[in-house]
Amino acid sequence: MPQPVTATQDERLTLRVRAMRREAQDVLSLELEDPTGEPLPEWQPGAHIDLRFINGVERQYSLCSDPSDRSGWRIAVLAESPSRGGSRYVHQSLRVGDLVTASAPINHFALVPADEYVFVAGGIGITPILPMIAAAERRGIRWRLAYLGSVAERMAFLDSPHIAGGDVVVVRGDVDGRLDLGAWIGVPSEATPVYACGPERMLDALEALSVDWPRGALHLERFQPKAFGESQGAESFEVVASRSDLVVTVDRGCSILEMLEGAGIGVPSSCLEGVCGTCETAVIEGAPEHRDSILTPDERESNETMMICVSRSLGDRLVLDI
Ligand code: FES
Repeated sequence: MPQPVTATQDERLTLRVRAMRREAQDVLSLELEDPTGEPLPEWQPGAHIDLRFINGVERQYSLCSDPSDRSGWRIAVLAESPSRGGSRYVHQSLRVGDLVTASAPINHFALVPADEYVFVAGGIGITPILPMIAAAERRGIRWRLAYLGSVAERMAFLDSPHIAGGDVVVVRGDVDGRLDLGAWIGVPSEATPVYACGPERMLDALEALSVDWPRGALHLERFQPKAFGESQGAESFEVVASRSDLVVTVDRGCSILEMLEGAGIGVPSSCLEGVCGTCETAVIEGAPEHRDSILTPDERESNETMMICVSRSLGDRLVLDI
């Protein structure tokens, strides 16, 4: 019996592109497999992988296949304009048979138990939602989806059986105008959480709406960093790496991650923008100034972990479990 491929968060898998398919205008899907045919690691709906191409660019992509199919993973890539290098490489250079390097699946967008799920997807943000819908259906949990796009030709997976046959409102901006998200969602409860992935403007609008919702009702997945103003934290602070028994000073303009790496402490990292979660580090003491785009309000308040590629310190000392 084939042994599944495994990888920890800081290990990388070599995968082969098994198939590529045009899913919509400017959207290509990739199927990735282990070159030796071994089953890939398990994952749950909402998970993403960090993918590194031979041009050195590394990007995050949601898994959008069926988690029970361990023979391969599917992702979808939108041709960004302007591209920062990842989507241009996929659309112009990557071919079937090429090798890529991937992280193990990482999930900061997992489904919580619920009576009903409300999904909001904007454009390529449909990708993490598809396996969530499949999981809800398998568990017999009600769900509804608002799928927003500019024009139908740019909306991937419109022919998916989940979208074609489910409780779905498809909103094409050129024909339907804008959906009043507040009216469509109503006021969710903790038992009817809202999961959303899409463009910044849509996610910001949902965050603004959610101020009157129960805490924890809104779950967002961002692939672009949130805009933060100037740091309100300490100009300069000390970081104690407790397991390594080392202290580094972090000045304005440097990140904790950079200073630790400079002192010889290797920390897994990928996006360096606070969106992938790879550098998440446990906090033992001190008050982080969270500047990432991942942690929920409750997680920020608990100060149990922080993303050390972007987050800083409110006080003059942090002790990290590293
Ligand atoms: Fe991606 Fe820090 S490296 S969140």
